[in-house]
Amino acid sequence: MQNLFSTYKIKNLELKNRVVMPPMCQYSVEKKDGIANDWHYLHYVSRAVGGTGFIIVEMTDVEPDGRITDYDLGLWSDEQVPALTKIVEAVHSHGAKIGIQIAHAGRKAEDAAEPVAPSAIPFDENSKTPRALTTEEVKGMVEKFRLAVRRAVQAGFDAIEIHGAHGYLIHQFHSPLTNKRDDEYGQDLTKFGREIIEAAKAEMPADMPLIMRISAREYVEGGYGIEESIEFSKAYKDAGADVFDVSSGGEGQIAAWGRPGTHAAYQVPLARQIKEALQVPVMAVGRLDDPILANAVIGNEEADLVQVGRGMLRNPYWTLEAAKQLRKENIVPKQYEAGF
Ligand SMILES: Cc1cc2nc3c(=O)[nH]c(=O)nc-3n(C[C@H](O)[C@H](O)[C@H](O)COP(=O)(O)O)c2cc1C
Repeated sequence: MQNLFSTYKIKNLELKNRVVMPPMCQYSVEKKDGIANDWHYLHYVSRAVGGTGFIIVEMTDVEPDGRITDYDLGLWSDEQVPALTKIVEAVHSHGAKIGIQIAHAGRKAEDAAEPVAPSAIPFDENSKTPRALTTEEVKGMVEKFRLAVRRAVQAGFDAIEIHGAHGYLIHQFHSPLTNKRDDEYGQDLTKFGREIIEAAKAEMPADMPLIMRISAREYVEGGYGIEESIEFSKAYKDAGADVFDVSSGGEGQIAAWGRPGTHAAYQVPLARQIKEALQVPVMAVGRLDDPILANAVIGNEEADLVQVGRGMLRNPYWTLEAAKQLRKENIVPKQYEAGF
């Protein structure tokens, strides 16, 4: 019987437990150069000291105008690699594994003078109207993802997550609400995401897993549901996605996005449905910061890995406390034993 503290292996990624820190933007690149700094180092390394099995670095963007804000991380330049390597090495030295989320915000790039998107449809009445990418530019964007993934591999990450959720660029392409194109990337809504997965896999060692984060349903009126997301996820699986990280929403107003997310485990049924329909490993996320509940999600085989986001912002040692509460093997570092 598996539990939150069982080991897990997918391809070459071997995890000591099932607890994952999901990507969470820190908006802390004060120099606006996309380079990780001391804040990022301490933020990620402290969760490794805190016993987390797998850490996913926040949304890291493939070009400057792909950032939500100018304070986001980037991987559009080789100069951005060494600071990430330093984080990777330190996280490894504390026994955790680490991936990175590669992304483009598309029409949700708030600081871009002119954001780009599949079609010229703004996020809401307060947002800039994006410019629709030309077909050639879409192909160029796939190459930008490829180069960012190449740099992430150079930095030493153990896995790559592609951000296909929360209303950002890849989600904008596969959602009929935001993709009104009449070229090949509009006739086939998953073509852009598939090409990114294929380009990423071509840069990754064959035994390194690729994780695809999706919004398994939209919350705005007329948005897609689980049936449609099962279909597009099949296309992404065929393109090479090894694991699905199942989130939801983000395509519309925060008010609408927040609607379902008030109770514990609200996205777990979506993760379970993707897992069952596709027979793929899945990561569940969303208000799973009660260890008993997180443990149940693994024990009931609803997901293979559990992510704890805001819970880890509150407590970098969430995993140590969960192990104690669940009466698992003592994983507390000896320096901190007096505190437990
Ligand atoms: C401060 C903050 C920043 C976030 N940034 C990202 C991000 O960079 N990429 C992403 O896919 N999700 C992001 N999320 C969503 C989280 O990964 C997670 O899915 C969400 O917080 C729900 O999990 P939780 O209830 O455990 O916090 C962010 C959430 C928070 C609170």
